[in-house]
Amino acid sequence: MSTVNPVREHRVAAPLDVERIRADFPILARPMSGKALVFLDNAASAQKPEAVMRAVDECYREYYANIHRGVYQLSQRSTQAYEAVRGKVRALLNGADEREVVFVRGTTEAINLVAQSYVRPRLGSGDEILITGMEHHSNIVPWQLLCEETGAKLAVSPITDTGEADLEDFRARLTERTRFVSLAHVSNALGTINPVQEMVAAAHERGVAVLVDGAQAVPHLAVDVAELGCDFYCFSGHKIYGPSGVGALWGRLDLLREMRPYQGGGEMIRYVTFERSEFAEPPQRFEAGTPNIAGVIGLGAAIDYVRAIGAERIAAHEHALLEYATAQMREVEGVRIIGTAAAKAAVISFLLGRVHPHDIGTVLDLEGVAIRAGHHCAQPVMHRYGIAATARASFGLYNTRAEVDVLVRALNKVREFFI
Ligand code: ALA
Repeated sequence: MSTVNPVREHRVAAPLDVERIRADFPILARPMSGKALVFLDNAASAQKPEAVMRAVDECYREYYANIHRGVYQLSQRSTQAYEAVRGKVRALLNGADEREVVFVRGTTEAINLVAQSYVRPRLGSGDEILITGMEHHSNIVPWQLLCEETGAKLAVSPITDTGEADLEDFRARLTERTRFVSLAHVSNALGTINPVQEMVAAAHERGVAVLVDGAQAVPHLAVDVAELGCDFYCFSGHKIYGPSGVGALWGRLDLLREMRPYQGGGEMIRYVTFERSEFAEPPQRFEAGTPNIAGVIGLGAAIDYVRAIGAERIAAHEHALLEYATAQMREVEGVRIIGTAAAKAAVISFLLGRVHPHDIGTVLDLEGVAIRAGHHCAQPVMHRYGIAATARASFGLYNTRAEVDVLVRALNKVREFFI
């Protein structure tokens, strides 16, 4: 692994030196439709800094081998680099112990793992799993599958018009039938930041464990699982400037120890005969098969990158962008912002008159501006507002006010074209 941390200098320079950060992301210098690329689809997936690419490249060029298996030096070095990332994830989330960190393919796999390994054995007919009305499909469908298999019911606490959790309703839906709560820290479709600490406390008062989907939070906020008090927390590498196909589940060690494996295979066992198998301790118990070794190492580099800049500074920068972009976009005639929570991450879902969001996205692309258009894998959120889709601009640490201006000019072009 490289010993050079390319962003260490950012620590001393407050506020964020965005131009310097942008230079770490080669793709941002590529023209798009003959114009400067304005990448505003960070909620879908973020771009990658040199440090991440270098870490993955170095792994393959210099020390790649399968982990936990070889007595030879390459394997030992790969194992060391892979295992070191558990400590980085632990530190990122302020967990207590790196054995609480399980590497997975991403948030979706983490939720499926908890559904099958933790919740399923505790669930019977008539029991309930409680989620909120702002969840992404990955925090809906695994629970629906589980409910179909067990006769349990999925309870949903609806959101308010502003796109916020209704805490009174949420509390009322926590009943003696509730077996588990799963909720987003930050909504991908609306940007809402949930009062997770309060919601976890309410669930715990009833003895109900809580999983927090942190996919949209970890890249943008300081996350502290000890403070949140949750039982499980998960996120994906690709949204935090790391590789895709890798992510992490953090879970309380006492709970992980009680859980049966999610998948069987090599790596997750202690002893196997044809009659029976003994399973390894967590986290290995949940990592069957050869994992995404270079991906995990790349994730470690991404975490180093973000932590060197500082979550608070990133959050402050993005919040200022959100306020500026919201004000500027409101000046564009016909723009309607969907999701106006008081606490928001830098995600702006919007409509522009009756123009179809895909048409907005296509015209913006011709201006070099990349946004997402569609239901954002959160169709129930769209149903809540009686719409099929929105356009969505989502910001990351490398975005600038000048890019917001480009977005706004491009939206005015959409108006000229369609309205
Ligand atoms: N969940 C991702 C998004 O919000 C893919 O776009």
